[in-house]
Amino acid sequence: MKLTWLGHASVLIEGSINIIVDPFLEQNPAAARKMSEIPRVDVVAVTHDHEDHISDAFTLAKRDGATVVAMHEIAVMAGEEGIAAEGMNIGGTIEVKGANFTMVLAVHSSYRGHPCGFVISLDGKRIYHSGDTGLTRDMLIIGELYPPDVSFLPIGSRYTMDVVQAARAVEYTKTKIAVPIHYNTWPPIEADPREFSNLVGDRARVVILKPGESLEI
Ligand code: NI
Ligand code: MN
Repeated sequence: MKLTWLGHASVLIEGSINIIVDPFLEQNPAAARKMSEIPRVDVVAVTHDHEDHISDAFTLAKRDGATVVAMHEIAVMAGEEGIAAEGMNIGGTIEVKGANFTMVLAVHSSYRGHPCGFVISLDGKRIYHSGDTGLTRDMLIIGELYPPDVSFLPIGSRYTMDVVQAARAVEYTKTKIAVPIHYNTWPPIEADPREFSNLVGDRARVVILKPGESLEI
């Protein structure tokens, strides 16, 4: 399975199906690819409706006839645009096209619905995308029930966890491989991923990707 960080919070998962989380490409100054360079996706997962997470989600879903997986209120919006959508809420697990999506808490804000993260199970691997969140002890639940093979965690501070909190999130969730995201897109969220890596130490493997780079698991 190939996991690609496209920049900011956008992650492409290519396995037996293709899943994109929080596509933000066209207006993203740090995006590695424009939408036209994204392969066909089967599912578009959206963590919350801030522009830097949802901006290209519906366009991409329409292009590919993909299913949007999101919080109920966002799924309703997608449905109103004629997009196939699977609404859910925190605590729920649903199966879509052979992948399991468990919606987990994110501590953040949004215009509609509650922000969330996802634990995605595909091809025997578990991937946690936390969405925008501060550190919360609820992440211990992920460590207990769904310890991830790979976690994508924000480290940019200001709107989300900083490097110190994200390092603790790695510990709480019992993550094997951590990939820092949601930093250096703009000056207010500048962060040094090596600092994150040092704080995680030997508790997990930290893989620092540049936008557009991939990790094979
Ligand atoms: Ni946000
Ligand atoms: Mn954000």
